[in-house]
Amino acid sequence: MRKHKKKTNFEILENIRIEEMVAEGKCLARHDNMVVFVGGVAPGDVVDLRITRKKKSFMEAEAINFHSYSDVRVQPFCEHFGTCGGCKWQHIGYDTQLYYKQKQVQDNLERIGKVALPPFDPILGSAKDKFYRNKLEFTFSNYGWLTNEQIKSGEEHERRALGFHMPGRFDKILDIQNCYLQPEPSNSIRLAVRDYARANNLVFFDKLRMNGWLRNLIIRTANTGELMVIVQVYHEDEEALTGLLDHLATTFPEITSLQYVVNGKGNETFHDLEVVCYKGLPYIHEEMEGIRFRVGPKSFYQTNGDQAYELYKLTREFAGLSGNELVYDLYTGAGTIANFVARQCREVIGIEYVPSAIEDAKINSQINDITNTTFYAGDMKDILSDELIERHGRPDVVITDPPRAGMDEKVVAKLLQVHANRIVYVSCNPATQARDLELLSEKYDVTRVQPVDMFPQTHHVENIVLLTAK
Ligand SMILES: C[S@@+](CC[C@H](N)C(=O)[O-])C[C@H]1O[C@@H](n2cnc3c(N)ncnc32)[C@H](O)[C@@H]1O
Repeated sequence: MRKHKKKTNFEILENIRIEEMVAEGKCLARHDNMVVFVGGVAPGDVVDLRITRKKKSFMEAEAINFHSYSDVRVQPFCEHFGTCGGCKWQHIGYDTQLYYKQKQVQDNLERIGKVALPPFDPILGSAKDKFYRNKLEFTFSNYGWLTNEQIKSGEEHERRALGFHMPGRFDKILDIQNCYLQPEPSNSIRLAVRDYARANNLVFFDKLRMNGWLRNLIIRTANTGELMVIVQVYHEDEEALTGLLDHLATTFPEITSLQYVVNGKGNETFHDLEVVCYKGLPYIHEEMEGIRFRVGPKSFYQTNGDQAYELYKLTREFAGLSGNELVYDLYTGAGTIANFVARQCREVIGIEYVPSAIEDAKINSQINDITNTTFYAGDMKDILSDELIERHGRPDVVITDPPRAGMDEKVVAKLLQVHANRIVYVSCNPATQARDLELLSEKYDVTRVQPVDMFPQTHHVENIVLLTAK
C-alpha cells in the first residue's frame, strides 16, 4: 500500500488570548468552540497561531507572532531555554507554576475522580527551584544539534556534543554549556569530560551508525557530599579509559565513587550489565533524619532529595503512626519510605517489582539497624495475595506510591478487600490517581489532599491523598 504524506494545515488564527496551562505543560486557548493546545506560551499572552494539527475535538498550534506578553512571564535564566527540552516552564514565575500545578491536581480529582473532596492543602513548593536534582544523565554524540543561529552564521561549529536529547529526537544531542538542574561540580565535571575527550580525540558515539566509543555520563550528587560519576563506553579500550578516568580522578578528588560500564548494546540502559568501580566505593549515601540510604549505580532514589524528605514527612504524618501499626508500603522502590517510617510503627512490609531495588531496600534496613521491615520482589498484583496477608496480617495502614500508570485494577480490588483503616496514596500522575480514587470510594473517603512540587520549571506534580475507611 502506498503511503501518503500527511498534509500540514497552515491555517492561521489571529489575536488569540492564551487562557491557561493544562496537562503535559501545554497551554490552552479557544477558537470557534474548539480548544487549541499551544507550547512555549504563557496564560495571558496574545498571539497569532499557526495550526499544526486539527482533530475533531481539538487543535494543536504554534505561536508565530506575539501581540502582547503576559505579566506572569519572567526572564528564563538558562541560555538553553527554548531549545533544550528540560525546564519548559522557566518563562513562568514560580508562584504561577505552583498555582497551575495545584489546579491540575484539583481538575483531575474533580473531573476524573468524581469523589467528594475536602478542601485541598496548598501545594508545597520546593525550597530550591534550581539545582534541585541529585542525578543527571548526559549523552555523547558526534553530531550535536546546531541552533538556527549557528546554522545561519555560516561558521564551522564543533559537532562533538555532550548533553541532553533534543525533545523527541533519539539521535540528536544538544551540547550543554551550563545546566541549572544539579549543583556543582556537575557542570564542571561534564565540561571537563567533554573538553578532555575532544582534546584527546576520543570518539563520541554515533547513534545512527551505532559506532564510536563514548556513550554517556551519569553524575549523582548526594546530601552527604558524596559524589558518583559513571562513564559508559561502547567497547573495551583500556588505554583511553584509564586516561579519561585518571584525568577525572585527579581533577575532581571529591569524586567518592568513580565507575564505568562497557555497553555494546543498542541502548544505554545498564541494569543488566556489570558496572565496574574504578576508584572509591561502588555506592554513595543519602541521609534523612540520621537514616542512611545506600545508592548504587543501578539504584533508584528520588531525584529531588530535599523535597523527597518533605514528601516523606507528609506521607508519614498522613499515615498517623502511633508505634503499633502494621504498614504495607506498596511500590517501595529501594525501601526508602518503608525504612523512613519503620521506627514509628510495629512492622513494615515493602513490595516492589525490581529485584535489585529490593536488595537495596534490605541493605538500607541492615545498615540502619532497622529490624522490623520485610521486603518482597515481584509484580504487585501477584505478591499482594491472600497468602501474604495471612502470613503478615491485615495492614492498619497502606502507603502506596505507584508508577505513572497508577495501580492495577486487581491491586485496587485487593485493597478494597483488605480494608486497612487508612491508605496514603502518593502519586506522580493525578489523572491515574483520580481514576483509582473513584474505585476506592466504594469503601473510602478522601480526607486530605496535599500536592507537592518535586520538579520546579516543569509541569510535573506529585500529590498525596489520605483515604480513610468509611
Ligand atoms: C514512583 S516509584 C516509587 C518509589 C518509592 N516509593 C520511593 O519513594 O523511592 C514506583 C515504583 O513502583 C515499581 N513498580 C512499577 N510497577 C510495578 C508492579 N507492577 N509491581 C510492583 N512494583 C512496581 C517501580 O519499579 C518503582 O520502583
